[in-house]
Amino acid sequence: MYYVFTSPGSGRKMASKQSPVKPWAGRFSEGTDQFVEQFTESVSFDQRLYRQDIRGSLAHVRMLAHCGVLSQDEAGRISQGLDSVLADIEAGRFQWRVELEDVHMNIEMALVERIGEVGKKLHTARSRNDQVATDLRLYLRDVIDELRLLLRTLMHALGDVAEREAGTIMPGFTHMQAAQPVTFGHHLLAWCAMLQRDEQRLADCRRRVNVLPLGAAALAGTGFPIDRDYTARLLEFDRVAENSLDAVSDRDFGIEFCAAAALIMMHLSRFAEELVLWASPQYRFIELDDAWCTGSSIMPQKKNPDVPELLRGKTGRVYGDLLALLTIMKAQPLAYNRDNQEDKPALFDAVDTVRGCLRACCGMIPGIQVQRDAMLAAAARGYGTATDLADYLVARNVAFRDAHAIVGRIVQFAIGAGRDLSALTLDEMRKFSDRIDADVFARLTLEGSVTTRDHVGGTAPRQVRLAVERLRDYLRNAGG
Ligand code: ARG
Repeated sequence: MYYVFTSPGSGRKMASKQSPVKPWAGRFSEGTDQFVEQFTESVSFDQRLYRQDIRGSLAHVRMLAHCGVLSQDEAGRISQGLDSVLADIEAGRFQWRVELEDVHMNIEMALVERIGEVGKKLHTARSRNDQVATDLRLYLRDVIDELRLLLRTLMHALGDVAEREAGTIMPGFTHMQAAQPVTFGHHLLAWCAMLQRDEQRLADCRRRVNVLPLGAAALAGTGFPIDRDYTARLLEFDRVAENSLDAVSDRDFGIEFCAAAALIMMHLSRFAEELVLWASPQYRFIELDDAWCTGSSIMPQKKNPDVPELLRGKTGRVYGDLLALLTIMKAQPLAYNRDNQEDKPALFDAVDTVRGCLRACCGMIPGIQVQRDAMLAAAARGYGTATDLADYLVARNVAFRDAHAIVGRIVQFAIGAGRDLSALTLDEMRKFSDRIDADVFARLTLEGSVTTRDHVGGTAPRQVRLAVERLRDYLRNAGG
């Protein structure tokens, strides 16, 4: 969302005593400078909170009637009015007005225009400060639930591929050098382990988001006999915020959300990087669906992995959003300051970005074609079973350090001969250690290497299948 500024100091003023009159105009004798009006507005971006704003107002009014601050009749008429404003917004018939600053004043003024004097009672015992904090918390709560669902959908899709590829062998890497053979299913389940923590982080964050600020009013609370627990129940908050100054001012819950979003993006960027590499002709481990790739305008042969590349690129936005929020909050004295209005563009951008990226992953993963032969061939290069040979010697009572040195020399010999370890003859190997016998060849196969790593957390196909079962158990439960 970009501001369109009029030239600063143009001197053009809002006709302050003509329509629409700002709810706070009473204290002012002059209208607002048009530049200031555009500089301070937030309705261009906070209008996306209209549903939460109206939901919060409906609960507030019910509470006021419940406590006898408003009559049932007044509350009824205000609620009906709010419902009709909501219907108009949803139908695209609502005229948002910049001169009314933000989503809150736009809705309140529309209400008064519709139902007259009684509408002016809506803001009793409330301030925009506790109102906007409430709106944001309601909004984030829904976003968190949606993102958790997307994470679960993605884990589900990955689990299906992992099960199918439980026995598919690929090179496992450290330092981007082939290290030891692993199963592709195991690799995908590593991604799932990251996503599972991401989901739990969001669930944990939700507990601190789901706290009601309403009742804090501007900063000090209100003299009206309100019932905050009643409002909390209506809005399905777990509890009320216990300090009014803190309730209207802190945005740590938004920062926490953004941090969780940044971690999700960090993980997605790692997956994306691997997908880009694997889809390249140098690896050819996978083929991405045509529908998920784009071509080049000049090079006819190109099929580019733009979606994973964008996942990688968009990660930077969310890191930026997190830093923006941290910096907006930094050194703010209590209580509410207008700085906080700047939380929304950053927060919304993080939400849109992580949601879009998760949707992209959910769509892309099931269509990935696995090139098992290419993976297997790559695993056979690079002496990935050298550790298995060392372990074999250890089982024959060679100390691990000595075994390591012996195998190092064997690998050097094999590199010179241009052959893999399994292609050496028994005699050739026995020149380096007489503890090596014919049964060594079983250990030097890729299958043998992965199958022996058969413990919880290991890469053996059997363990991959068990891990997929555990994942499905986890996904069957709603999660806390
Ligand atoms: N638009 C404002 C925000 O986003 C709402 C609260 C304004 N409060 C005030 N006292 N100006 O923070």
